[in-house]
Amino acid sequence: MLQQAQPVVLIGLMGSGKSTIGHRLAQSLDWAFCDTDKEIERSTGADIPWIFEKEGEAGFRKREHQALAEALQRPDQILSTGGGVVELPENRDLLQKAAAQVIYLYAPPGALYRRVGNDPNRPLVAQGNARDTLQRLFDRRDPWYREVADLVIPTHRSNPREVVEKIQSKLRSS
Ligand code: S3P
Repeated sequence: MLQQAQPVVLIGLMGSGKSTIGHRLAQSLDWAFCDTDKEIERSTGADIPWIFEKEGEAGFRKREHQALAEALQRPDQILSTGGGVVELPENRDLLQKAAAQVIYLYAPPGALYRRVGNDPNRPLVAQGNARDTLQRLFDRRDPWYREVADLVIPTHRSNPREVVEKIQSKLRSS
């Protein structure tokens, strides 16, 4: 079992499996699970589409930065982040400097599209050509995820149980 009390932070695009994997990993370690999107919704009292509509993406990013900074203070937890957490340089800096294991859950754009489609709860893909949007976001963010990650774990060819086992074994040997 894991010895360190550092939080484990899951990063990656929408549909990469952060929530599913995060929940399972937290259960298997008996750690708390935290999701920055849920924290933002809880503290705002509104859902993410509403925040994007009223405050724009910039307003959402400010809230996301605050939620990330606070969540990183807590040990013994699995922290799932929104796919755009790497958009702000200050968040990339926080992730790089955090006493945390940062894990990039990698999946290629085609697999992400099959999982996410035009999900109405995800404002960036809710309208327009979701496949093109995911490709564009992937092209921009993939290098940032890799820059801040301690580990890169592909999720598109394995089921959630296998991904969790892979993460546990990597964490044990790190
Ligand atoms: C976003 C991803 C979403 C959520 C918001 C913006 C993004 O989180 O934070 O809709 O910019 O990619 P998930 O990655 O959990 O879907």
